[in-house]
Amino acid sequence: MHKVQILPSLLSANFANLEHDIRLVEKAGIEMLHLDIMDGHFVPNITIGPVVIESIRKMTKLKLQSHLMIENADQYIDAFVRAGSDTIIIHYEAFEDTIPTLEAMRKKGISVGIALKPKTEVSQITDILNVLDMVLIMSVEPGFGGQSFIPESIKKIKELALLLKKYNRQIPIGVDGGINGTTIKSVVDAGAHHLIAGNAVFKGDIVENIKNLKHVVNL
Ligand code: DX5
Ligand code: ZN
Repeated sequence: MHKVQILPSLLSANFANLEHDIRLVEKAGIEMLHLDIMDGHFVPNITIGPVVIESIRKMTKLKLQSHLMIENADQYIDAFVRAGSDTIIIHYEAFEDTIPTLEAMRKKGISVGIALKPKTEVSQITDILNVLDMVLIMSVEPGFGGQSFIPESIKKIKELALLLKKYNRQIPIGVDGGINGTTIKSVVDAGAHHLIAGNAVFKGDIVENIKNLKHVVNL
């Protein structure tokens, strides 16, 4: 069974003082950070790229999970690996065929994941389960932090848990978007392991926020 854990999404942190916010995340006992990479094409927003990840890599031992919301992601995998990503997640919808990129990523020795937008059915990834180390269910339309959790995501998490069981793939399920003190328990009950949270972690007292979220799901 995979460990249930909170992954703070750096998108909602103070980008003028990332080190300060990351130290507080470490203090709260977090093991992995979630980094949202956006290019203004796959999603209508622009965030950070490999140079920022490289600097983060130098100042923390936390595991770094890079969520690529970009077009032509296959051309940038090397750069995100070199920058220090431990896991790279690509979007199912960004490729005609994800397998060559997923296999190339695996060869680099990193963990590989696939993210599904809210309208993408989990059954669509049946054929690629064997090349995945994790699956990320988007519980908001990718692009921005601070959106409301889409309730239908619960059904998708349960469907994915069943699909993984059927094919005997014991990999973690991540959920990304609108996770807070009210929604977190339902996603854990549905079978999620990686709980990505931006606003609910970084707005206000970071250590206290993480402590409260952990408390709701008995971590
Ligand atoms: C949205 C991003 C999320 C986002 C989550 O495209 O993938 O990681 O930062 O933010 P909250 O938790 O504020 O919904
Ligand atoms: Zn994300």
